[in-house]
Amino acid sequence: MAGVFDPAAPPGATIGILGGGQLGRMLALAAARLGFDVAILTPEDDSPAARVAARTLVADYQDAGALTELARCCSVVTYEFENVPAPAVERLTALGARVAPGASALETAQDRVKEKSFFEANGMPTVAFTPVTTPGDIVRGLRRLGAPALLKTRREGYDGKGQVWVEAAEEAEAAFATISGVPAILEARADFRRELSVIAARGRDGAIAAYPLTENRHEGGVLRRSTAPADASDQTRAQALTIARKTLERLDYIGVLGIELFELPDGALLVNEFAPRVHNSGHWTLDACEVDQFEQHIRAIAGWPLGPAEPFAAVEMRNLLGEDAGRWQELAAEPDARLWLYGKREVEPGRKMGHVNRLKPLPR
Ligand SMILES: Nc1ncnc2c1ncn2[C@@H]1O[C@H](COP(=O)(O)OP(=O)(O)O)[C@@H](O)[C@H]1O
Ligand SMILES: [Mg+2]
Repeated sequence: MAGVFDPAAPPGATIGILGGGQLGRMLALAAARLGFDVAILTPEDDSPAARVAARTLVADYQDAGALTELARCCSVVTYEFENVPAPAVERLTALGARVAPGASALETAQDRVKEKSFFEANGMPTVAFTPVTTPGDIVRGLRRLGAPALLKTRREGYDGKGQVWVEAAEEAEAAFATISGVPAILEARADFRRELSVIAARGRDGAIAAYPLTENRHEGGVLRRSTAPADASDQTRAQALTIARKTLERLDYIGVLGIELFELPDGALLVNEFAPRVHNSGHWTLDACEVDQFEQHIRAIAGWPLGPAEPFAAVEMRNLLGEDAGRWQELAAEPDARLWLYGKREVEPGRKMGHVNRLKPLPR
Protein backbone atom coordinates (compact mmCIF):
# COMPACT_ATOMS: atom_id res chain seq x y z
CA MET A 1 0.00 0.00 0.00
CA ALA A 2 1.36 3.42 -0.92
CA GLY A 3 2.72 5.38 2.01
CA VAL A 4 3.29 2.37 4.24
CA PHE A 5 6.87 1.54 5.14
CA ASP A 6 8.80 -0.51 7.64
CA PRO A 7 10.75 1.90 9.83
CA ALA A 8 13.92 1.13 11.72
CA ALA A 9 12.51 3.42 14.40
CA PRO A 10 8.82 4.27 14.87
CA PRO A 11 7.61 7.28 16.91
CA GLY A 12 8.22 6.61 20.61
CA ALA A 13 11.54 4.93 19.92
CA THR A 14 14.74 6.42 21.31
CA ILE A 15 17.40 7.85 19.01
CA GLY A 16 20.92 8.08 20.38
CA ILE A 17 23.26 10.93 19.47
CA LEU A 18 26.99 10.95 20.17
CA GLY A 19 27.91 14.55 20.89
CA GLY A 20 26.17 17.35 22.75
CA GLY A 21 26.82 20.47 20.64
CA GLN A 22 24.47 22.66 18.63
CA LEU A 23 24.09 20.12 15.84
CA GLY A 24 22.98 17.55 18.40
CA ARG A 25 20.58 20.11 19.85
CA MET A 26 18.93 20.84 16.51
CA LEU A 27 18.80 17.11 15.68
CA ALA A 28 17.14 16.46 19.03
CA LEU A 29 14.54 19.18 18.42
CA ALA A 30 13.71 17.69 15.03
CA ALA A 31 13.51 14.18 16.47
CA ALA A 32 11.22 15.32 19.28
CA ARG A 33 8.87 16.84 16.75
CA LEU A 34 8.48 13.42 15.11
CA GLY A 35 7.67 11.79 18.44
CA PHE A 36 11.08 10.33 19.27
CA ASP A 37 12.94 10.47 22.54
CA VAL A 38 16.59 11.42 22.24
CA ALA A 39 19.46 10.14 24.37
CA ILE A 40 22.68 12.14 24.18
CA LEU A 41 26.11 10.75 25.02
CA THR A 42 28.62 13.51 25.69
CA PRO A 43 31.55 14.01 28.05
CA GLU A 44 30.38 17.60 28.58
CA ASP A 45 28.20 18.66 31.52
CA ASP A 46 25.22 20.88 30.75
CA SER A 47 25.68 20.67 26.96
CA PRO A 48 23.47 22.50 24.41
CA ALA A 49 21.91 19.20 23.23
CA ALA A 50 21.39 17.79 26.72
CA ARG A 51 19.08 20.63 27.61
CA VAL A 52 16.54 19.68 24.92
CA ALA A 53 16.94 15.89 25.03
CA ALA A 54 14.89 13.32 26.96
CA ARG A 55 18.00 11.95 28.62
CA THR A 56 21.74 12.40 28.68
CA LEU A 57 24.61 10.13 29.58
CA VAL A 58 27.55 12.26 30.66
CA ALA A 59 30.55 10.01 30.08
CA ASP A 60 33.56 9.53 27.88
CA TYR A 61 32.65 8.38 24.34
CA GLN A 62 34.42 5.10 25.01
CA ASP A 63 32.87 4.46 28.43
CA ALA A 64 31.76 0.82 28.34
CA GLY A 65 28.77 1.30 30.63
CA ALA A 66 27.44 4.29 28.72
CA LEU A 67 27.81 2.56 25.34
CA THR A 68 26.04 -0.54 26.67
CA GLU A 69 23.16 1.57 27.94
CA LEU A 70 22.93 3.50 24.66
CA ALA A 71 22.88 0.27 22.64
CA ARG A 72 20.18 -1.09 24.96
CA CYS A 73 17.83 1.86 24.85
CA CYS A 74 18.22 3.17 21.28
CA SER A 75 16.67 1.91 18.06
CA VAL A 76 19.32 3.78 16.12
CA VAL A 77 22.40 5.77 17.09
CA THR A 78 23.96 8.64 15.14
CA TYR A 79 26.65 11.25 15.75
CA GLU A 80 26.82 15.00 15.44
CA PHE A 81 30.53 15.41 14.86
CA GLU A 82 33.06 13.47 12.84
CA ASN A 83 35.72 13.08 15.49
CA VAL A 84 33.86 10.59 17.66
CA PRO A 85 36.37 7.81 18.34
CA ALA A 86 35.95 4.98 15.82
CA PRO A 87 36.19 2.35 18.62
CA ALA A 88 33.04 3.82 20.21
CA VAL A 89 31.13 3.17 17.00
CA GLU A 90 32.65 -0.31 16.66
CA ARG A 91 31.66 -1.12 20.24
CA LEU A 92 28.08 0.07 19.69
CA THR A 93 27.83 -2.05 16.56
CA ALA A 94 29.25 -5.08 18.39
CA LEU A 95 26.61 -4.52 21.08
CA GLY A 96 23.95 -4.86 18.39
CA ALA A 97 23.19 -1.14 17.94
CA ARG A 98 22.30 0.20 14.54
CA VAL A 99 24.67 3.11 13.88
CA ALA A 100 24.12 5.51 10.97
CA PRO A 101 26.02 6.83 9.08
CA GLY A 102 28.17 3.70 9.14
CA ALA A 103 31.79 3.13 10.09
CA SER A 104 33.23 3.51 6.58
CA ALA A 105 31.86 7.04 6.17
CA LEU A 106 33.30 7.99 9.55
CA GLU A 107 36.67 6.42 8.83
CA THR A 108 36.93 8.18 5.47
CA ALA A 109 35.94 11.58 6.84
CA GLN A 110 38.31 11.36 9.81
CA ASP A 111 41.47 11.25 7.74
CA ARG A 112 42.08 13.93 5.10
CA VAL A 113 44.37 11.67 3.05
CA LYS A 114 41.80 8.84 3.00
CA GLU A 115 39.08 11.34 2.20
CA LYS A 116 40.86 12.93 -0.77
CA SER A 117 41.97 9.48 -1.99
CA PHE A 118 38.34 8.34 -1.84
CA PHE A 119 37.25 11.26 -4.00
CA GLU A 120 40.04 10.69 -6.51
CA ALA A 121 39.44 6.96 -6.71
CA ASN A 122 35.80 7.65 -7.54
CA GLY A 123 36.48 10.19 -10.25
CA MET A 124 35.73 13.32 -8.24
CA PRO A 125 38.39 16.01 -8.72
CA THR A 126 40.18 17.42 -5.66
CA VAL A 127 43.22 19.65 -5.21
CA ALA A 128 46.56 17.91 -5.75
CA PHE A 129 47.94 16.65 -2.44
CA THR A 130 50.63 14.57 -0.79
CA PRO A 131 50.80 12.84 2.62
CA VAL A 132 53.34 14.32 5.05
CA THR A 133 55.20 12.66 7.91
CA THR A 134 58.48 14.66 7.81
CA PRO A 135 59.59 18.20 6.90
CA GLY A 136 61.33 16.60 3.88
CA ASP A 137 57.91 15.53 2.57
CA ILE A 138 56.88 19.19 2.68
CA VAL A 139 59.94 20.31 0.71
CA ARG A 140 59.33 17.64 -1.95
CA GLY A 141 55.62 18.40 -1.92
CA LEU A 142 56.18 22.12 -2.57
CA ARG A 143 58.21 21.23 -5.66
CA ARG A 144 55.39 19.17 -7.06
CA LEU A 145 52.36 21.18 -5.87
CA GLY A 146 53.82 24.69 -6.12
CA ALA A 147 53.89 27.35 -3.42
CA PRO A 148 52.13 28.40 -1.36
CA ALA A 149 50.63 25.10 -0.27
CA LEU A 150 48.42 24.35 2.71
CA LEU A 151 49.62 21.98 5.43
CA LYS A 152 46.77 20.40 7.41
CA THR A 153 46.73 17.75 10.11
CA ARG A 154 45.29 14.52 8.70
CA ARG A 155 42.97 14.11 11.66
CA GLU A 156 40.91 16.19 14.12
CA GLY A 157 41.01 19.55 12.28
CA TYR A 158 37.87 21.69 12.10
CA ASP A 159 37.03 25.35 11.49
CA GLY A 160 40.48 25.87 9.96
CA LYS A 161 42.29 24.59 13.06
CA GLY A 162 45.46 22.56 12.52
CA GLN A 163 46.29 24.31 9.24
CA VAL A 164 49.19 26.47 8.13
CA TRP A 165 50.22 27.92 4.77
CA VAL A 166 53.76 27.10 3.63
CA GLU A 167 55.25 29.71 1.33
CA ALA A 168 58.71 28.25 0.71
CA ALA A 169 60.95 25.25 1.45
CA GLU A 170 62.75 27.19 4.21
CA GLU A 171 59.49 27.26 6.16
CA ALA A 172 59.00 23.48 6.13
CA GLU A 173 60.52 22.76 9.55
CA ALA A 174 58.66 25.59 11.29
CA ALA A 175 55.35 24.76 9.60
CA PHE A 176 55.63 21.13 10.64
CA ALA A 177 56.38 22.23 14.21
CA THR A 178 53.30 24.49 14.16
CA ILE A 179 51.12 21.41 13.74
CA SER A 180 53.17 19.56 16.39
CA GLY A 181 54.73 17.19 13.85
CA VAL A 182 51.61 15.01 13.56
CA PRO A 183 50.76 13.10 10.35
CA ALA A 184 49.58 15.66 7.83
CA ILE A 185 48.57 16.41 4.27
CA LEU A 186 50.04 19.09 2.02
CA GLU A 187 47.54 20.52 -0.46
CA ALA A 188 48.01 22.64 -3.56
CA ARG A 189 46.26 25.98 -3.27
CA ALA A 190 42.87 25.97 -4.93
CA ASP A 191 42.41 29.19 -6.90
CA PHE A 192 38.71 29.16 -6.39
CA ARG A 193 36.21 31.83 -7.36
CA ARG A 194 34.00 30.96 -4.43
CA GLU A 195 33.15 28.20 -2.00
CA LEU A 196 29.97 26.20 -2.38
CA SER A 197 28.49 23.27 -0.55
CA VAL A 198 25.84 20.68 -1.13
CA ILE A 199 23.80 19.08 1.63
CA ALA A 200 22.30 15.75 0.65
CA ALA A 201 20.67 12.73 2.23
CA ARG A 202 20.28 9.05 1.48
CA GLY A 203 17.56 6.95 3.05
CA ARG A 204 17.56 3.29 4.06
CA ASP A 205 15.69 2.54 0.82
CA GLY A 206 18.50 4.14 -1.23
CA ALA A 207 16.47 7.26 -2.11
CA ILE A 208 18.51 10.47 -2.38
CA ALA A 209 17.47 14.07 -1.74
CA ALA A 210 19.79 17.04 -2.29
CA TYR A 211 19.21 20.62 -1.23
CA PRO A 212 20.19 23.30 -3.74
CA LEU A 213 23.78 24.55 -3.81
CA THR A 214 24.79 26.96 -1.06
CA GLU A 215 27.43 29.69 -1.40
CA ASN A 216 29.69 30.06 1.63
CA ARG A 217 32.00 32.77 2.91
CA HIS A 218 34.66 31.74 5.42
CA GLU A 219 36.81 34.02 7.52
CA GLY A 220 39.86 32.60 9.21
CA GLY A 221 38.67 29.08 8.31
CA VAL A 222 35.29 29.61 10.04
CA LEU A 223 31.98 29.86 8.17
CA ARG A 224 30.58 33.38 8.46
CA ARG A 225 27.77 33.47 5.93
CA SER A 226 25.84 31.18 3.61
CA THR A 227 23.46 32.18 0.84
CA ALA A 228 21.03 29.80 -0.77
CA PRO A 229 20.08 28.83 -3.33
CA ALA A 230 23.42 29.81 -4.89
CA ASP A 231 23.25 31.25 -8.35
CA ALA A 232 25.16 28.67 -10.40
CA SER A 233 25.17 27.34 -13.96
CA ASP A 234 23.22 24.18 -14.83
CA GLN A 235 26.53 22.45 -15.39
CA THR A 236 27.90 23.37 -11.97
CA ARG A 237 24.70 22.25 -10.30
CA ALA A 238 24.74 18.98 -12.20
CA GLN A 239 28.37 18.34 -11.20
CA ALA A 240 27.55 18.99 -7.54
CA LEU A 241 24.66 16.56 -7.70
CA THR A 242 26.87 13.90 -9.27
CA ILE A 243 29.46 14.39 -6.54
CA ALA A 244 26.79 14.10 -3.83
CA ARG A 245 25.20 11.02 -5.39
CA LYS A 246 28.50 9.21 -5.88
CA THR A 247 29.69 9.99 -2.36
CA LEU A 248 26.43 8.77 -0.80
CA GLU A 249 26.31 5.61 -2.89
CA ARG A 250 29.97 4.59 -2.72
CA LEU A 251 29.93 4.96 1.08
CA ASP A 252 26.58 3.15 1.32
CA TYR A 253 25.66 6.20 3.35
CA ILE A 254 22.53 6.63 5.47
CA GLY A 255 21.71 10.10 6.74
CA VAL A 256 22.60 13.66 5.79
CA LEU A 257 26.07 14.77 4.74
CA GLY A 258 27.64 18.08 3.81
CA ILE A 259 30.13 18.33 0.95
CA GLU A 260 32.37 21.40 0.67
CA LEU A 261 33.29 22.46 -2.84
CA PHE A 262 35.60 24.95 -4.52
CA GLU A 263 34.22 26.55 -7.68
CA LEU A 264 36.94 27.40 -10.19
CA PRO A 265 36.67 30.46 -12.45
CA ASP A 266 35.25 28.31 -15.30
CA GLY A 267 32.50 26.91 -13.05
CA ALA A 268 34.11 23.48 -12.60
CA LEU A 269 34.10 22.07 -9.06
CA LEU A 270 36.83 20.60 -6.89
CA VAL A 271 35.76 18.66 -3.80
CA ASN A 272 37.35 19.92 -0.60
CA GLU A 273 35.93 17.67 2.08
CA PHE A 274 32.76 16.10 3.38
CA ALA A 275 31.26 16.02 6.83
CA PRO A 276 29.38 12.79 7.74
CA ARG A 277 26.65 14.75 9.49
CA VAL A 278 24.38 17.76 9.24
CA HIS A 279 26.40 20.82 8.28
CA ASN A 280 26.59 24.47 9.30
CA SER A 281 26.06 25.54 5.68
CA GLY A 282 22.71 23.72 5.77
CA HIS A 283 21.24 25.71 8.67
CA TRP A 284 19.32 27.85 6.19
CA THR A 285 17.08 24.84 5.46
CA LEU A 286 15.57 25.22 8.96
CA ASP A 287 13.46 28.16 7.83
CA ALA A 288 13.22 27.71 4.07
CA CYS A 289 12.36 24.04 3.47
CA GLU A 290 9.38 21.92 4.48
CA VAL A 291 11.85 19.30 5.68
CA ASP A 292 15.10 20.80 6.96
CA GLN A 293 18.45 19.00 7.13
CA PHE A 294 17.92 17.95 10.76
CA GLU A 295 14.53 16.34 10.20
CA GLN A 296 15.89 14.85 6.97
CA HIS A 297 18.72 13.18 8.89
CA ILE A 298 16.33 11.79 11.51
CA ARG A 299 13.99 10.52 8.77
CA ALA A 300 16.88 8.83 6.96
CA ILE A 301 18.39 7.04 9.96
CA ALA A 302 14.96 6.05 11.29
CA GLY A 303 14.09 4.44 7.96
CA TRP A 304 11.33 6.90 7.16
CA PRO A 305 10.84 8.28 3.66
CA LEU A 306 12.96 11.34 2.87
CA GLY A 307 11.13 14.64 2.60
CA PRO A 308 11.29 17.25 -0.15
CA ALA A 309 14.46 19.34 -0.36
CA GLU A 310 13.15 22.24 -2.44
CA PRO A 311 13.20 25.63 -0.73
CA PHE A 312 10.22 27.99 -0.63
CA ALA A 313 12.40 31.02 0.18
CA ALA A 314 15.88 32.32 -0.48
CA VAL A 315 18.02 32.73 2.63
CA GLU A 316 21.07 34.48 3.91
CA MET A 317 22.39 32.66 6.98
CA ARG A 318 24.89 34.38 9.25
CA ASN A 319 26.70 32.67 12.07
CA LEU A 320 26.63 34.50 15.38
CA LEU A 321 30.19 34.11 16.65
CA GLY A 322 31.23 35.12 20.14
CA GLU A 323 29.84 38.54 21.05
CA ASP A 324 27.62 38.65 17.91
CA ALA A 325 24.96 36.81 19.90
CA GLY A 326 24.76 39.75 22.31
CA ARG A 327 22.70 41.46 19.60
CA TRP A 328 19.83 39.00 20.13
CA GLN A 329 17.30 41.71 21.03
CA GLU A 330 17.89 43.63 17.85
CA LEU A 331 17.83 40.42 15.78
CA ALA A 332 14.67 39.16 17.47
CA ALA A 333 12.93 42.42 16.57
CA GLU A 334 13.89 42.24 12.91
CA PRO A 335 11.09 41.11 10.58
CA ASP A 336 12.02 38.22 8.25
CA ALA A 337 14.97 37.28 10.46
CA ARG A 338 14.76 33.90 12.19
CA LEU A 339 16.97 33.63 15.23
CA TRP A 340 18.53 30.40 16.48
CA LEU A 341 20.51 30.42 19.71
CA TYR A 342 22.33 27.36 20.97
CA GLY A 343 22.08 27.96 24.71
CA LYS A 344 25.83 27.99 25.26
CA ARG A 345 26.54 29.34 28.71
CA GLU A 346 29.94 30.78 27.95
CA VAL A 347 30.82 33.28 25.26
CA GLU A 348 34.27 32.89 23.75
CA PRO A 349 35.68 34.83 20.81
CA GLY A 350 34.81 33.01 17.57
CA ARG A 351 32.61 30.44 19.33
CA LYS A 352 29.47 29.48 17.40
CA MET A 353 26.70 30.84 19.65
CA GLY A 354 23.82 30.83 17.18
CA HIS A 355 22.82 31.84 13.69
CA VAL A 356 20.26 34.03 12.00
CA ASN A 357 18.36 33.19 8.81
CA ARG A 358 17.11 36.15 6.81
CA LEU A 359 14.44 35.14 4.35
CA LYS A 360 13.76 36.66 0.94
CA PRO A 361 11.47 35.66 -1.89
CA LEU A 362 12.99 33.10 -4.25
CA PRO A 363 14.37 34.70 -7.43
CA ARG A 364 12.07 33.88 -10.35
N1 LIG B 1 43.69 23.64 -0.75
C1 LIG B 1 43.13 24.80 -0.38
N2 LIG B 1 43.32 25.92 -1.12
C2 LIG B 1 42.79 27.12 -0.75
N3 LIG B 1 42.03 27.29 0.35
C3 LIG B 1 41.78 26.22 1.13
C4 LIG B 1 42.30 24.93 0.80
N4 LIG B 1 41.89 24.06 1.74
C5 LIG B 1 41.14 24.78 2.61
N5 LIG B 1 41.07 26.07 2.26
C6 LIG B 1 40.32 27.13 2.99
O1 LIG B 1 40.31 26.84 4.38
C7 LIG B 1 38.96 26.55 4.83
C8 LIG B 1 38.98 25.43 5.87
O2 LIG B 1 39.59 24.27 5.31
P1 LIG B 1 38.90 22.84 5.35
O3 LIG B 1 39.71 21.91 4.51
O4 LIG B 1 37.48 22.97 4.96
O5 LIG B 1 39.09 22.42 6.87
P2 LIG B 1 38.08 22.33 8.10
O6 LIG B 1 37.97 20.86 8.33
O7 LIG B 1 38.78 23.06 9.18
O8 LIG B 1 36.77 22.93 7.67
C9 LIG B 1 38.20 26.21 3.55
O9 LIG B 1 36.82 26.43 3.70
C10 LIG B 1 38.87 27.16 2.56
O10 LIG B 1 38.39 28.48 2.76
MG1 LIG C 1 35.72 22.65 5.92
